[in-house]
Amino acid sequence: MTERLPKGFVLGAATAAYQIEGAAHDDGRGPSIWDTMSHTPGRIKDGSTGDVACDHYHRWREDVDLMAGLGLDAYRLSISWPRVQPGGSGPLNLKGVAFYRSLLTALRDRGIAPWVTLYHWDLPQELEDRGGWRARQTATAFAEYARLMAREFGDLVEVWTTLNEPWCSAFLGYGSGVHAPGVVDAAGSLTAAHHLNLAHGLAATTIREELPGAQVAITLNLHVTRPADPVLASDRDAVRQIDLLGNEVFLGPLLEGRYPADLVSLTSGITDWGFVLPGDLDSIGQPLDLLGVNYYSTQTVRRNPDPTADRTGGHAVGQGSPWPGADEVEFLAPSPPLTEMGWNIEPTGLSEVLTGVARRFPGLRLAVTENGAAFPDLVEDGEVHDPRRIDYVREHLGEVAKVAADGVPVEAYFLWSLLDNFEWSHGYTKRFGIIHVDYETGARTPKDSAHWYAALLRSRPQAPGQG
Ligand code: FCB
Repeated sequence: MTERLPKGFVLGAATAAYQIEGAAHDDGRGPSIWDTMSHTPGRIKDGSTGDVACDHYHRWREDVDLMAGLGLDAYRLSISWPRVQPGGSGPLNLKGVAFYRSLLTALRDRGIAPWVTLYHWDLPQELEDRGGWRARQTATAFAEYARLMAREFGDLVEVWTTLNEPWCSAFLGYGSGVHAPGVVDAAGSLTAAHHLNLAHGLAATTIREELPGAQVAITLNLHVTRPADPVLASDRDAVRQIDLLGNEVFLGPLLEGRYPADLVSLTSGITDWGFVLPGDLDSIGQPLDLLGVNYYSTQTVRRNPDPTADRTGGHAVGQGSPWPGADEVEFLAPSPPLTEMGWNIEPTGLSEVLTGVARRFPGLRLAVTENGAAFPDLVEDGEVHDPRRIDYVREHLGEVAKVAADGVPVEAYFLWSLLDNFEWSHGYTKRFGIIHVDYETGARTPKDSAHWYAALLRSRPQAPGQG
């Protein structure tokens, strides 16, 4: 399969700070909204927190060794904002900065390119106390934090991703309330989406002010949504509503300089969009060097006026909806095969989303920044047999190779995840890693999928002059 991936294609693995680092109180780290959320009874399925997680903050050397052993080209990690700038503004916490400098340097020393995400959901709690993403000043605070990170780590970072999946931050954080900060406020979720867009644009600018040649990206979880009955106009309209709220609310301002009129009218009963100020769309629409796409599964919807129908798309057990204005859209139960998350497995959804974006935005470079699957893995005699994860990754990577061969400019693939980790509201109940983590002892055990991925990486034809 790797023969069909373009020359220079980057194969890596991804994690996020709150999900793996632990060390929640070490060396001056401040609290984030996920610390608050996970310490609130009833919010996390197994009652767990990220206080220790994979203890990567202390075990990072071992983890870098594991990555080097796999032969990864690149590692996608996130910086914990409250570790480097505890209150979200003001001076940096030098110990936090030193941690990332050591980690990034060790990665470079081992030939692993660091792709850094500046925000993977762990907002400093102090900023939430001042309004969080519903407050405009969070966007400006983020841009200043991004500037400081560019200054500190400009010599080490390969690609700067501003935000990971702002849809989740806005609509799970302030819509359904299933993610931190756990707020249910339909209008606020749309305000948050705009301020996240603005944060991205302002940060792209501050990063480039510090590092004129920086590669700046954003990662979106573009939703691939199908109509229950493609012949029914009402079902196709349901798809359109989910597209507007799941995709266009970001693609529009980021790449086309506008919020679609249909989105504004769909949500007119909720907000007048007065939070979009003159000049904002120019600030947001900064050139993108790369668009990151996270992809796991597809969803099927239909129009259903019955108020008891599932309006969550499997995203929520809270009281709110993550789809403001889509009051009659029902999400159908996914068809098997399913992963442990209850998500369906549909590799062609990945080629579809990549091809669609490439057609619509010619020349935009793409990267698959997350793709992977949770299964209930067990360690038996020091081994973890996870054939379904291998199949999942092989099939999805096959789709990437196929579209790349057809000319879609997709340059990288990051497997989610390097390690089993804290899966947000699911706690430690879902294992996505290619490396098993024993949460009692911290022991790491590469699963069969890790050995398979390493063999795939090694099997690539060598560039002339190498090895
Ligand atoms: C994505 C998140 C990532 C992880 C995977 C399973 O939405 O970006 O942190 O939780 O889902």
